[in-house]
Order: sequence, then C-alpha cells, then structure tokens
Amino acid sequence: MKIKLESSSKNKTELLCGFVPEESSRVLGLPEYDDVKITSSINQSIRDNGGKLGNLTIIPISGKKPASRILLAGIGKKNKMTNDTLRFVSGKIALKARELKLKEFTIIAPPSFVNEIASTVSQIVEGAKMSVYKFDKFRAEKENAPPDLTIVCLRSAKVVKAIRSSEIIADGAIFTKSMANLPPNECNPSTLAGFARTISNKNKMRCKIISKSELKKNGFGGITAVGQGSKNEPKLIILEYSHGAKNKKPILLVGKAVTFDTGGISLKPGDNMNEMKFDKCGGCTVLGIMKAASELKLPINLVGIVPSVENMPGGESYRPGDIVKLYNGKTAEILNTDAEGRLILADALAYGEKQYSPQAVIDFATLTGACIVALGTNVAGMVSNDERLAKRIFDSSKRTSEEVWQLPLNQDYMDMIKSDVADMKNMGIGRAAGTITAAAFLQNAIEKTPWVHLDIAGVAWTQTATKEKPYNPKGATGFGVRLVLDYLQNLRA
Ligand code: BES
Ligand code: ZN
Ligand code: ZN
Repeated sequence: MKIKLESSSKNKTELLCGFVPEESSRVLGLPEYDDVKITSSINQSIRDNGGKLGNLTIIPISGKKPASRILLAGIGKKNKMTNDTLRFVSGKIALKARELKLKEFTIIAPPSFVNEIASTVSQIVEGAKMSVYKFDKFRAEKENAPPDLTIVCLRSAKVVKAIRSSEIIADGAIFTKSMANLPPNECNPSTLAGFARTISNKNKMRCKIISKSELKKNGFGGITAVGQGSKNEPKLIILEYSHGAKNKKPILLVGKAVTFDTGGISLKPGDNMNEMKFDKCGGCTVLGIMKAASELKLPINLVGIVPSVENMPGGESYRPGDIVKLYNGKTAEILNTDAEGRLILADALAYGEKQYSPQAVIDFATLTGACIVALGTNVAGMVSNDERLAKRIFDSSKRTSEEVWQLPLNQDYMDMIKSDVADMKNMGIGRAAGTITAAAFLQNAIEKTPWVHLDIAGVAWTQTATKEKPYNPKGATGFGVRLVLDYLQNLRA
C-alpha cells in the first residue's frame, strides 16, 4: 500500500472517504458540492446512519465529479473517541476499498479540533496498512493487491513526519505478525536467527547468534535445558542498534521465542495446542521493534535479545525434578517443564544486564495462561521494579491503545517461588497469582536495572474472547511493537 499526502480533496479518486461524528450533520472536511442531488443524498445518509461508530455508507456519484464514490465513515460520539477510534475506522475503510477491488482510495483527515493532527494521520496510516495484511503465504488463493491510499490534510513538516514514521511502525508490526504466524515446521530457532540476520544486514545493526554448544559452554543453563529435547537447536539471538551517543547506556529489549511449546515432559493437553506456535510472539515483537527503530533512525542505543528454543518431550528432554543452573549462577528446581519461558528469559535477562549495563529493560513474553484469566485477551499484564519506567510504558499504552495493566510484585510473591532444594523453583504455589510468580522468577535475574515485564499471553494473537478489530485480522497481532516504539520515540522528550 503506497501512501501519499495531498492538500485538497478535489483530485480524482475512486473512493473519497470522510469521517462523520454521531452528533454531527456533516462530513468532516468534505468540500461543499454544488450538485443538489449529491448534497441531499449525503444529508439523507447522515440522517439515516447518524455517524454510528464503524458504520460505512457508500454514495455513488454520477457525472463528471473527481470522486466516483463518497464513503461516509461513522466515528461515534465525539466525547467517546479514544486514541484508537480513527485507527479502527480507517482499518474498516481500507478493507472495504480492497473488497471493492479498488486501486486507490482517499481519506480526508478530520481537522485538529477533532483530534491532534499527528495522531490522526498516524492512526489512519496504521489502521489502513495493518488491516490489509493477510497471512496467505501457504494458500493458493491470495488477496487482491492492497489499494493505495491518499490522505487529504494540510501539509506540514509534522504531518509528513507522522505519516512516514507510522508507515515504518506499521511495517514493523506487520513484520512481527508475519513471523509469528509461521507454522512451527517452517519456523524454528534457526529460522528466527535468519530473520534477525536479514534485518541486521539491511538496517546496519550488529547481529550475533549464540549456538547450542556455546550456550552450554557459557552457562546458559535455562536455555540449554529447555532446548535439549528438540533436534531444532536453541539459539540466542542478539541485535545491537547503536545510533545514540557512544557513552549512552542502551535500552534492552528481551523477547521469549519458543517456536513451539508442547509443554515438554509436562505435556500440554491436546486442545488448541496448535496455538503454541504463537509462543514465539515475544521474540518476534523484539525483532519488529528493532527493524522499525533502525528504519526510523532513532537517536538511541538499543539492544534486542531473543532466546529461542523449541520445547519438546523426548528421551533427551529436561524433566520435572531436574535442577538447572542459570546464567547468573542461581539454581532452579524444575517442577513443571511447561513453565519454560521464565527459564530462557532469566538467562537472557541476566546476560543482557551483565553485558550491556542497560538504562532500562523491557521484556515481552507469552508467559502464563494465568494472565488470560486475570486480564482477558485485550490487555497485557505488566510487572515492574521501577514505577517511573512503568508509568512511561503505561502512558505509551494509552497513546497507542495497546493496553497494559500493572500487577503488584512484593516480597511475599518472591517467597512463593523459594525451593527446598535449589535457590528457586520454576512455579509458584498451585494456581495462585501465576502471572506474578512467573514475573518474580524473572526479577531474580535482574540485579539493579529498571525493568518492565509484559505478559502478552492474552494479546499476542487473536483468541476466542479477543475484541475484533479490522487492523488485527485473525492470527498474530504484533502487540507491543507500536507501544514500545512510542516509548522509544518519546525517550528524549
Ligand atoms: N506458553 C505458555 C503460556 C500460555 C498458555 C500462553 C496459553 C498463552 C496461552 C507457558 O509456557 C506455560 O505453559 N505456562 C504455564 C506455567 C505453569 C506450568 C506454572 C501455564 O501458564 O499454565
Ligand atoms: Zn509452557
Ligand atoms: Zn511457553
């Protein structure tokens, strides 16, 4: 989808789209038509549909007008608008344009009294681009090529920059989705390492892949244990993007990438086990952010670390009862081989903190089913050791409508993972506070750095209870990419 900016809606287009608020009797930004017939059809449609959120009405235009059709897109009541409304409606418009097999369409950006203009154009771009992505790599029947988009808006440096940035950000989220959607037979730890290498070559990042034998030699006991049951060997993927001052500490991103989670010897039940191909979503999010951050040329230093394994049962697998030594020297008693994410993340977090002395760490993981029980499938769980960092992530979450909610982590939770035979155990007490006890395990790997953990188990892909959004078609959502890029873009502000 190519996107361009124009200052007037008088140019030729197959579909001219304007937004209609529920209480309004006009289309925001649509020029007056001198033709009474057109004006009265528009007015009639507004009276009939009243700008209800998500409602789309198409009015064909006859005669020699520049637009062949006008589309009225309802945005609901103005005081109910969120930072997601225009993204949602823009996504619906783009899907409609594709359904009509159009080559291009035009959206008139509403004026700034409705919504701040940079946010408006960003939402339009993200909604349109992300909604026409479809995972059809393995289907003979493909979607039509997506139509190109013209945005009508007064040209300013701010608007041009917002459009360019949000194109890159949407592409980052799409990159994440397209990896995360891959089936487990087509995407193992080496495949992910290959993707990381490709973006590092294109975007001038350093890429280091640590292989199984080196992991074992260097004390990555968590990654080694979880990975030993699969013939697809584990990899630790490291990307470095250095575009800030030389002495400036980097931000560290860490993402769980279990390319398939069977549960291992503590085998999962069969129902929906196929969905555990999405257990690599955290790692895919990190790669999507690294790609976009480097294309945006953000003036920062950023490191992405992705521990990647396949969790399989077999003669070589790790077992309940095993005691493994993590990268930081602490030992963990394995009580359930299905609680594997915390083991590989603990290694990656400890390594990242030691190697890079980061100013902040953010990790992403489809870590616990308990998070879905606690928060459902539209809000990610957040646990942190630093209120300032947590607040910044929360603010970005509000701006991007990738919602997070913080859960507490105090000493009592830390005590719940104490083991009789090792320094820690890899699960808490029964089903109590499963998301927090998992986070408590991770906090043991962090010495002193401000850290935010995002449990994306409920939001990383569309599940039965997921709220339908046009820009999140079935499958992986790329959750976290827009959120953390917002945080990174606002770092120096
Ligand atoms: N990858 C799963 C968590 C998960 C489950 C994410 C369902 C999304 C949907 C994780 O590795 C896991 O299995 N965790 C266990 C931990 C338990 C054994 C302490 C869980 O949540 O049941
Ligand atoms: Zn598991
Ligand atoms: Zn898992």
